[in-house]
Amino acid sequence: MAKRADYSGEEALAARARREGYAARSVYKLEELDRRFRLLRGGLRVLDLGAAPGSWSQFALRRIGPKGLLVSVDRNEITAALPGAVRLRGDVFELQFDDLAEHSSGRVPPFDLILSDMAPSTTGVPLADHVASVELCQRALELARKFLRPGGGLVVKVFQGEDEPLLRKELKVCFQALKSMKPKATRSQSVETFLVATGFRGS
Ligand SMILES: C[S@@+](CC[C@H](N)C(=O)[O-])C[C@H]1O[C@@H](n2cnc3c(N)ncnc32)[C@H](O)[C@@H]1O
Repeated sequence: MAKRADYSGEEALAARARREGYAARSVYKLEELDRRFRLLRGGLRVLDLGAAPGSWSQFALRRIGPKGLLVSVDRNEITAALPGAVRLRGDVFELQFDDLAEHSSGRVPPFDLILSDMAPSTTGVPLADHVASVELCQRALELARKFLRPGGGLVVKVFQGEDEPLLRKELKVCFQALKSMKPKATRSQSVETFLVATGFRGS
C-alpha cells in the first residue's frame, strides 16, 4: 500500500501553492488578509512592494481582474507570470513617481491599495532585523503618502519589536483605521505580523 505523505503545515501549504499555480505559499497570508479585511476587488489599482517571486501579485491580479491595474516591484526577479501587470526591478528606496507613471502609461499613480510583504535579508540578530523591517514599513508609508489616493489602504508586514508602537503611531496619523493580523499561514514561531491601515487621510 502506498504510504500517505505526512506534510507539516508549511509543506502542505507549499504543496497547495504548487498545485494551484502560485509562486509561493505566502499567497495564503494575503488570501486570509483579503478575506478578513476585504482588501481587493475588481478594478482596483494596486502597488505590490517586495513582490518576488510573485504569489501576492498573482493573487491580486486575479482579484482585480482585467479592469484593475497592478504594479509589482522588487529588487529580485519576479518570476511568476503576471499578464498585464507592470513589473519594476529595483530598490523601493529608489522608486520614483516617473518610474510608476512612465511604465503604466500614466494610469497610476494614484493607487487604491499598496501592499508590502517586504522583508529584509535577515542577519540572525533579532533587533537588527526588526529595525530593518520597520525601515521597510516606513518606506512603504512614505510611498503611500506620495502615491495613494485619499481613502486608500496600506498593508505592511513587520517583524515585531520595540519600534512597532512608533510605526503604528505613524500609520495612525495618516489613516483613519489600523488593524493587525497574524495569518494562520504564518509560521507560529515567526515574529512577523501584518498591519492593515485603511482610509488614507490624504497627503
Ligand atoms: C517574503 S518576500 C515577498 C514574497 C511575495 N509577497 C510573494 O508572495 O511572492 C520579501 C521580498 O521583499 C523584497 N525586498 C526587501 N527589501 C527590498 C527593497 N529595499 N526593495 C525592493 N524589494 C525588497 C525581497 O527582495 C523579497 O523578494
